Amino acid sequence: MNYSDKVMDYFLNPRNMGEIEGASGIGLVGNARCGDIMKIYLDIDGGNIIRDAKFKTFGCGAAVATSSIATELIIGKTVQEALEITNSSVMEALDGLPTAKVHCSLLAEEAIQAALWDYAQKNGMVIEGLKPPTYGGHDHHHDADES
Ligand code: FES
Repeated sequence: MNYSDKVMDYFLNPRNMGEIEGASGIGLVGNARCGDIMKIYLDIDGGNIIRDAKFKTFGCGAAVATSSIATELIIGKTVQEALEITNSSVMEALDGLPTAKVHCSLLAEEAIQAALWDYAQKNGMVIEGLKPPTYGGHDHHHDADES
């Protein structure tokens, strides 16, 4: 697999790994085919600005790298701006990904959107252009995640 130096760097030294206690929004997504799981935590202030973001990824190296760089891309952005971060922005920031690993960057895009959706739900707001997450990770039985 031909990874860029940047992918290797973010895989070996991931930034913003961990979780945020009392996060404003949490997004959990997964890819059924490879079985990888990604979780993104957002801390959003009253002005809808993302103060902090962290991730936990149980998956391949590219998934670790994409989720790590995705958190960096959204910190300091407004909710609306974060929505514009797509898997192509993530791939571009990493100087590209091998074709077989493009779906890993998609997971990062989906995780951000799922976390924003969670934030919107918790605050009874509508974020224009945001669609509900399709991954079954956020269902309606209450578990330890929701405390
Ligand atoms: S192989 Fe599935 S997320 Fe990377």
